Amino acid sequence: MSSTHCAALPDVQAAAARLRGRVRRTPVVGSGGLGRLAGRRLLFKCELFQKTGSFKIRGALNAIRSLVEEAQRAGAELPRAVVTHSSGNHGQALACAARKGFLPTSWCPGQHHAVRKLPSRLTAPRWCHASPATRAETAARVVEETGGIMVHPNQEPAVIAGQGTIALEVLEQVPEVNALVVPVGGGGMIAGIAVAVKALRPDVKVFAAEPCNADDCYQSKLRGELTPNLHPPDTIADAVKTSIGANTWPIIRDLVDDVLTVSEQEIKASTPWLPFHCSCQ
Ligand SMILES: Cc1ncc(COP(=O)(O)O)c(C=O)c1O
Repeated sequence: MSSTHCAALPDVQAAAARLRGRVRRTPVVGSGGLGRLAGRRLLFKCELFQKTGSFKIRGALNAIRSLVEEAQRAGAELPRAVVTHSSGNHGQALACAARKGFLPTSWCPGQHHAVRKLPSRLTAPRWCHASPATRAETAARVVEETGGIMVHPNQEPAVIAGQGTIALEVLEQVPEVNALVVPVGGGGMIAGIAVAVKALRPDVKVFAAEPCNADDCYQSKLRGELTPNLHPPDTIADAVKTSIGANTWPIIRDLVDDVLTVSEQEIKASTPWLPFHCSCQ
């Protein structure tokens, strides 16, 4: 591992061992229509069928299981609570992971109603403004109040390693793959995938995809330095409004081949072509 990277292939492999039997191996399916439009064979890794409805359970569960293992190794008590901020998917996943990992409580400052669906003894949502600064401040306050542990949705190394297990599956499911295109918000998913892919199959390209209206990853690559979005992005792609951060940037800088940006018009026009897009709603 590069000394500037917070995660490497062995971390992703350890995550895969922790997650075995606890998360789904999601299918890879084709989309004839989009493939014809793109003029190449396109396959989609359908993480919408993952437990809690997104890939986020991989990172959240790896983080919780790592905390439990660490406490057991040290003969220490389990953390009293885990805390995060999220607009939905990571909060939901962390609450579910806390239940599976046998932690007493999870707290989640955020905006999305999805976290409300989970049993109240597991989640104690704290609603706040969606700006990164307000979310981080609110989460820090809750950590202080509860004595809990923060599990950052995309900068936590155990979360990054957990998301990387997607790549291990894809390389097994589609050994002939020659490129992966990964949506990027905070960059946890692409960072985990990039460290696994470039260690196992350096011939496979890894591309980041993000909206033109939230192009901090593109700008960072262009300038060669971490360049967060200046203003809250205005994009229909709700899950990728977040900026990449201090842990994901060095991995993206060194291992991601290129960043592709798409307009709002392109996102809206291509969504109906996606396999199973109706199930996402
Ligand atoms: C459905 C979905 N796709 C992509 C992302 C982006 O992931 P990351 O923040 O790890 O880049 C998220 C993050 O919340 C998400 O929920």
